[in-house]
Amino acid sequence: MSQSEPLVLGIESSCDETGVGIVRGSELLANAVASSMEEHVRFGGVIPEIASRAHLEALVPTLREALDTAGVTLRDLDAIAVTAGPGLAGALMVGVAGAKALALATGKPLYAVNHLVAHVGVGALEGGALPASLGALLVSGGHTEILRVTSLSSDVELLGSTIDDAAGEAYDKVARLLGLPYPGGPVIDRLASEGNPKAIRFPRGLTLGKFMGTAEEPGKHRYDFSFSGLKTAVARFVEDCRARGAEIPVADVAASFQEAVVDVITRKAVLACTEQGLDTLLLGGGVAANSRLRELLAARCQSAGITLRVPRPGLCTDNGAMIAALGARLVADGVAPTGGAFATDTGLPPSVVSMPPAA
Ligand code: KG4
Ligand code: ZN
Repeated sequence: MSQSEPLVLGIESSCDETGVGIVRGSELLANAVASSMEEHVRFGGVIPEIASRAHLEALVPTLREALDTAGVTLRDLDAIAVTAGPGLAGALMVGVAGAKALALATGKPLYAVNHLVAHVGVGALEGGALPASLGALLVSGGHTEILRVTSLSSDVELLGSTIDDAAGEAYDKVARLLGLPYPGGPVIDRLASEGNPKAIRFPRGLTLGKFMGTAEEPGKHRYDFSFSGLKTAVARFVEDCRARGAEIPVADVAASFQEAVVDVITRKAVLACTEQGLDTLLLGGGVAANSRLRELLAARCQSAGITLRVPRPGLCTDNGAMIAALGARLVADGVAPTGGAFATDTGLPPSVVSMPPAA
């Protein structure tokens, strides 16, 4: 890899992972991650205040680890990138404060980047350059989106998103209903393999004609998701079993719930790519680890002639390498750095790939 490609350090702290990654162009040099996941287990979900405090403790050791692994010093860097949003307010603030301090101390350019777009940018670190135009399906505990990425550094559009719970959140809530531990995704994934996905017909959110419309006249929620009705249907089913004194068929509930989630996600993502003329789809987020999602998405993409790219699990979950990868792309494309005068934005839309410099 050429030394002339930008050497960029990326910092991620939007949820419960403190990540520091270092890339040179599209070459991954380090990806250090500390997670506070275990501290949230007894609460059954991420507690923002606990996550923020864990970021404070983890940031400097994680930074040191990344620099040591990459064998570079802060002086060697061409730029620093940091997640400015979307994410949890206090958690974002820790990474941003750290990145601003580093940029100030070293005089390096600072990019305030979008977390969602970075989930796409990480795809460049594996399997060759990303095509100029592609679709992205992001599914995690905090987000569920379909993006159209016309240019990674300058033209990203949100095609659809969840109107209530995120996909991973639905897994976590249903796991809790079934008395299973947090995080629910891996447990339900495993149990589902022992159950019948057709045992219970759970609702497919926002798939009725009135929400979908047609290709010519798209409905308001054609590419959107909703998982709260599904969660309620699972809760009713479980209550009904209890009221009848019947045993809850946990594996069948897990398999049927999972099939409902995965069916809708894959159907809408493939529909969006087909209708928008996108022939590559990139999958990202923690739920990308789901075995049924990967299987059904691969099958449906193949039928539709769409090339599916799924980064390895450690690059799908939140990490610093994805922020560094997007930063390197911004440097390479000549995008102006943000500088130090910016604030975090918990609702930063994907159309803002990186924050512009203050006027
Ligand atoms: O991207 P991620 O690590 O961080 C957050 O967004 O918080 O995603 C974590 C989410 C959790 O909701 C977890 O239940 C879900 O991803 N998850 C899964 C699987 N592994 C993790 N969901 C379904 N199937 C899995 N195998
Ligand atoms: Zn994420």
